[in-house]
Amino acid sequence: MPSATKNDESTSAVNGAGIGAANGATDLIPIPGFRLLEKLGEGAAAAVYRAMQQSPLREVAIKVLTPGQSVCAFRRESRLMAALAHAHVVAIHGFGETPRGPYLVMDYIGGTSLRSLMEPGRPWPVDQTVRVVSAIGSALSHIHAQDILHLDLKPENVLYGANGQIKITDFGLAQSRIEADAPAELGLAQGTVHYGAPEQRYGLPVDPRADLFALATLAYELLTGRLPGRVYVSARRANPAVPPALDDVLRQALARDRDERQSTIEEFVAAVRRAADDHQEPRCC
Ligand SMILES: Nc1ncnc2c1ncn2[C@@H]1O[C@H](COP(=O)(O)OP(=O)(O)OP(=O)(O)O)[C@@H](O)[C@H]1O
Ligand SMILES: [Mg+2]
Repeated sequence: MPSATKNDESTSAVNGAGIGAANGATDLIPIPGFRLLEKLGEGAAAAVYRAMQQSPLREVAIKVLTPGQSVCAFRRESRLMAALAHAHVVAIHGFGETPRGPYLVMDYIGGTSLRSLMEPGRPWPVDQTVRVVSAIGSALSHIHAQDILHLDLKPENVLYGANGQIKITDFGLAQSRIEADAPAELGLAQGTVHYGAPEQRYGLPVDPRADLFALATLAYELLTGRLPGRVYVSARRANPAVPPALDDVLRQALARDRDERQSTIEEFVAAVRRAADDHQEPRCC
């Protein structure tokens, strides 16, 4: 495992009794039943805190909507999370409201984000990459089986627990076919542009192959230490340890035309595993 370098997400102390205002001022509001301990991260729409739930006593993570952001979208995020139950998806425990706005309570995953374990120009070993891709792939299969698309898969939204658990989080852009209030067109969250499939970036209809594109982008970045460009450049150029068959699988998954990609996440993950396994050195007798 490449060692953690720096945590690129903001971490700051917070008054133990409440939430700091979005502008960082000290007008704190309490969340009954919880003691906030520290800010873990902050995005465009929300901030996430580590907190202690008083009953049952346990550590949790609380995501608090930034004032002015869409409450409707935040409710949808919590509903979609509640529809999922998978070892590699962060579990939600509840949803609540304060006078300042809504919050959702989820499992706290001690550790870091996958982003913090990646360094530009420092490829990951093939076997560790395959382990991460398999875990995220099984989570995405489950998500797709519930008719949900994540649509914001990127290293910042993959948590890497202290004991090696891998969990997808952040369903802020997720969509479901069963949601009547799903936006007709997708907007992209800031910072997602490198992982979003071309059809997603252009606001065209999306299907599970958009998440497949994002997972392949993440796999390529892990294996090479850099993002794939618009035109595919062999991953073997940056990392000769990448088996040629695995390079072919990535090339197909990163096709700009989704009809040229593998059809499902399962197909992609199976192809990745096969390509990596076939290449392993035969064991000496
Ligand atoms: N359940 C959790 N356990 C531990 N840390 C978490 C958890 N959820 C989120 N985090 C940390 O908080 C950061 C931000 O979380 P998340 O991605 O859900 O919010 P966001 O990016 O602010 O959301 P949005 O994109 O909706 O504005 C993550 O990158 C991670 O470091
Ligand atoms: Mg996020």
